[in-house]
Amino acid sequence: MFDTMTITKGLGAVCGSLLVFLLLGWAGSSLYSMGHGGHGEEGAQAYTIAVEGGESGGEAEAAEAGPAFAEVLASADPAKGEKVFAKCKACHKVDGTDGTGPHLNGVVGRAIASVGGFGYSDGLKALAAKSWTPEELDHWLENPKGYAPGNKMSFAGLPKVEDRANLVAYLASLQ
Ligand code: HEC
Repeated sequence: MFDTMTITKGLGAVCGSLLVFLLLGWAGSSLYSMGHGGHGEEGAQAYTIAVEGGESGGEAEAAEAGPAFAEVLASADPAKGEKVFAKCKACHKVDGTDGTGPHLNGVVGRAIASVGGFGYSDGLKALAAKSWTPEELDHWLENPKGYAPGNKMSFAGLPKVEDRANLVAYLASLQ
C-alpha cells in the first residue's frame, strides 16, 4: 500500500516533469525558431552593411593613396632621411654647390629646375612652373622617369614611402 502510493506519486511526478519538459521544449523551440528568424534577418542586415562597409572601405583606401605620404611625412624622421640621402650624395650636394645634379639644400619649396647655371634637361624644365612641394618630391622620387619623362637624373626611384618621407623631412631641415 505504502509502496504503491510511493510508486504512484513517483509516476505522477515523472509524468508531471515530462509534461513540463514537453511544454518547455515546445515553448523553447517556438521561441528558438522565432529568435532564429529574427536573428536571421539581423544576420542578413549585418551582412549587407558589412559588404557596403567593405566597398566603401576599398574606395577610401584608393582615395587615400595620395594622403598616405602626407601621413607618413607627419611622423617622418630626418635622421633616417639623412641615411637615405646616401643614395643621392654621388650627384647631389647640400652645401649650395652643384655636382652632377643641382644642390638640394633649400629644394623643398624651390621652383622646379630653377638653380641658375645648372644645365637642366628639357624634361625637367617643362615642369618649371611648379615647385618642389613635399608631394611633388614624393612623386618625383618614387619614379623620376614617370614624373618627368626625358629627365637626365639616372636614378631608379625610392619604392618605399617611408624612405621618401624621411628623405623629404631631411631635405626640409636643410632650408
Ligand atoms: C646619378 C646621379 C643622380 C642621383 C643618384 C640622384 N640624382 Fe637627383 N638629379 C640628378 C640630375 C642630373 C638632375 C637634373 C635632372 C634633369 O635636369 O633632368 C637631378 C635633379 C634632381 C632634383 C630636381 C632639382 C631641381 O632643382 O629641380 C631633385 C629634387 C633631385 N634630383 C633629388 C634627388 C634625390 C633626393 C636623390 C636620391 C634619392 C637623387 N636626386 C639622386 C642626378 C642624380
